[in-house]
Amino acid sequence: MSKVAKLELDNKMYEFPLVEGSECERAIDISSLRSKTGHITLDEGYVNTGSCVSNITFIDGEKGILRYRGIPIEELAEKSTFIETAYLLIWGKLPTSQEIKVFSNLLIKNEMLHEDMKLQFEGFPAHAHPMAILSSMINAAGCFLPEVLNPDEIFLMQAARLISQVRTIAAFSYRKSLGLPIIYPKPIYKYTANFLHMMFSEPYQDYELQPEVVNALDLMFLLHADHEQNCSTSTVRMVASSKATLFASAAAGVCALWGPLHGGANQAVIEMLEDIHKSGDDGSRFIEAAKNKNSGKRLMGFGHRIYKNYDPRARIIKQKCDELLAVLKREDPLLDIAKRLEETALNDQYYIERKLYPNVDFYSGIIMRAIGIPMNMFTVLFAIGRMPGWIANYKEIYDAKEGRIYRPRQIYNGPKLTHYTPFSERV
Ligand code: CMC
Repeated sequence: MSKVAKLELDNKMYEFPLVEGSECERAIDISSLRSKTGHITLDEGYVNTGSCVSNITFIDGEKGILRYRGIPIEELAEKSTFIETAYLLIWGKLPTSQEIKVFSNLLIKNEMLHEDMKLQFEGFPAHAHPMAILSSMINAAGCFLPEVLNPDEIFLMQAARLISQVRTIAAFSYRKSLGLPIIYPKPIYKYTANFLHMMFSEPYQDYELQPEVVNALDLMFLLHADHEQNCSTSTVRMVASSKATLFASAAAGVCALWGPLHGGANQAVIEMLEDIHKSGDDGSRFIEAAKNKNSGKRLMGFGHRIYKNYDPRARIIKQKCDELLAVLKREDPLLDIAKRLEETALNDQYYIERKLYPNVDFYSGIIMRAIGIPMNMFTVLFAIGRMPGWIANYKEIYDAKEGRIYRPRQIYNGPKLTHYTPFSERV
């Protein structure tokens, strides 16, 4: 197979090396394109652009494959936990029993927020969106880091602090939004159980933890833990490349995740399903409307930039939905609508031609509803789950000896040279 790509431009021939990844993905290395030819590439939405070489997550969107550090998501979903998977993503290997003990102890040690941070929560209006609170408070939490640390321990401690505290901040912001007293974490609980405790216990009565609920939520976190160079992870890498702190980079990731085309889609899916339910539509009218670009509607939770096949996470979540609702002896009309929408779309030429399949957000909101998570917290839970992936990507940038700041170029298409006019001459 060829080792170089040839480009003919203005009657000159240029050669660029080809790069091949461990799973045979191929790229043209155009690092020298501008210096050799004076041209840049233009790739709106970065559809064809590899922004980095990474060792963390592999996706084959055509085949519907997702692997963290080489391990298939299906195996991790069946055998691992969110915290073990977080370790795997950040440090590149499954932890020994001693390593996971150290990591878990660090999570416990760092779960409390500095008491002064309570004052900062007071400053937000009651209706503030929890994603806005989350990004602000992650940045604020970075201000409370102890300064004197053994340099080798800094990253481990910061990672543990961020993973642990994002959960505490999320629960506190939920309680604050309802005017409820804050519930402190309990070191005896594991990660996900502790989150549910902080969300739903009362000062006079502990929340009753059901193992199936805890496991379903832990699985949700695990399935969201990384997804290579998506919008928020690329944002984290972009900010990290300027040598900003881990906390500042993660706060930026939260902001990027918030939008409805990214992490905000889980909330948008439930809003869509509720609208369909209220309107009495069996889903078929909506499926038709979503095909028309002028309708302003999209089938939320469907389609993906990378997957042109069933998102493997959606398959696992769909099955978990059925299991959880059965255990809780609950029926959810929205699940029925979602399944009907899926079936209709998967047999409709518009969706087939465009390879639009359910993505991770299509069924995740139904699990969160069943657990009692309010809708405006859905994307916050996505952020808790995605934190290990952001940290792993930050670490790749931080560890890279010759890393350069991320700084794309542009094609300028604005006015040519023009001159300042005083007010009197302006029309
Ligand atoms: N409903 C109807 N049509 C769609 C949809 C949809 N959900 N998604 C894509 N299309 C159409 C789109 O109109 C276009 O049609 P045409 O070729 O006629 O112009 C074609 O499919 C390609 O779509 P695109 O917008 O160019 O694809 P993209 O890669 O830029 O966008 C996406 C990917 C995920 C933003 C998009 O599919 C979408 O908006 N989906 C709904 C929102 C959603 O579920 N987002 C969560 C993504 S998964 C979690 C995450 O990673 O954040």
